[in-house]
Amino acid sequence: MNEQKLIDTAKTLVASDKGLLAIDESSPTCNKRFAKLEIPQTEECRRTYRELLITTPGLGEFISGVILYDETIRQQKKDGTPFVQVIAEAGIIPGIKVDMGAKALAGHPGETITEGLDGLRDRLYEYAQMGARFAKWRAVLTIGTDIPSRGCIEANAQTLARYAALCQEAGLVPMVEPEVLMTGDDSLERSSEVTTKVLQTVFQQLYTQRVMLEGMILKPNMVLPGSTCPQQASVEEVADTTVQCLLRSVPAAVPGIAFLSGGQSGELASMHLNAMNLRLRSRFSVGETLRLPWALTFSFGRALHQPALDLWHGKESNILAAQQALLHRANCNSAARQGEYTTEMDGTGA
Ligand code: 13P
Repeated sequence: MNEQKLIDTAKTLVASDKGLLAIDESSPTCNKRFAKLEIPQTEECRRTYRELLITTPGLGEFISGVILYDETIRQQKKDGTPFVQVIAEAGIIPGIKVDMGAKALAGHPGETITEGLDGLRDRLYEYAQMGARFAKWRAVLTIGTDIPSRGCIEANAQTLARYAALCQEAGLVPMVEPEVLMTGDDSLERSSEVTTKVLQTVFQQLYTQRVMLEGMILKPNMVLPGSTCPQQASVEEVADTTVQCLLRSVPAAVPGIAFLSGGQSGELASMHLNAMNLRLRSRFSVGETLRLPWALTFSFGRALHQPALDLWHGKESNILAAQQALLHRANCNSAARQGEYTTEMDGTGA
């Protein structure tokens, strides 16, 4: 294992004021989003959409890495240039989603285990040959009555750790994504308690499986009340609760934390990221300056490119507008990394 190469890649992914663009939706998920907009659900449409995103002029100014899907990493621009080459030439690091999706966990109704370890070593070597330099795996945890169970948390944590160790062996930086869904009516406190438990278990397993923490990225959820919880939280409450949860769970050796957006609107995700980073430059509580050991950045899917998809609508004449929408969200989130995002940037300021 080339440790220094892994460390350098991980640091570059979370460096300065850039973040990551996740366009790794599986074909069925991408098709579902196309169907809502009546865009044909074909391989060519998925290719065209991803081409418009990665060829956005200036994208490399705000984006350090792009996460691709198996279909996408094998695709080319209309002129035949491989997507991986397009991304690298924009100064962006190509990455790949390598899990095979969340499946029902036996004996645990309502819970899932992410599959994809079988044959993973060979797939990782193939992706590395194709030019990928990091790889993502998503575990999904649901909050409900008596769940997530210990069995579900531990099975997913161990699976994440085994995938991460295999990535590092293949020279790929693992982007470890344990997503606690924020879709129910649970309180901010319950979301925080579950996210803390999940992250602590994940790091115990990463340590047990000998994953080099300096050569990985964590991709967690922000800590939010469930979307149907009657008591929603302020931006500051979400920021403080999320940072507290991370400080209690994530070792300082990890270079960066790149949040998923998890269905938040683009603006809200930017506001939350901004508030967290603002804490770096301001007083956390009277007389105490909070200094975070890791970079706090973004690895958003929907919160970065849903506006572009809505505008594109499958029409060539809308490509420019769609690219501008993507660049705008990338710019907003880059500002949020520095604590300099304002809602005026989105034209929604008070
Ligand atoms: P969202 O930001 O849309 O949640 O997607 C990020 C991601 O990569 C989910 O696995």
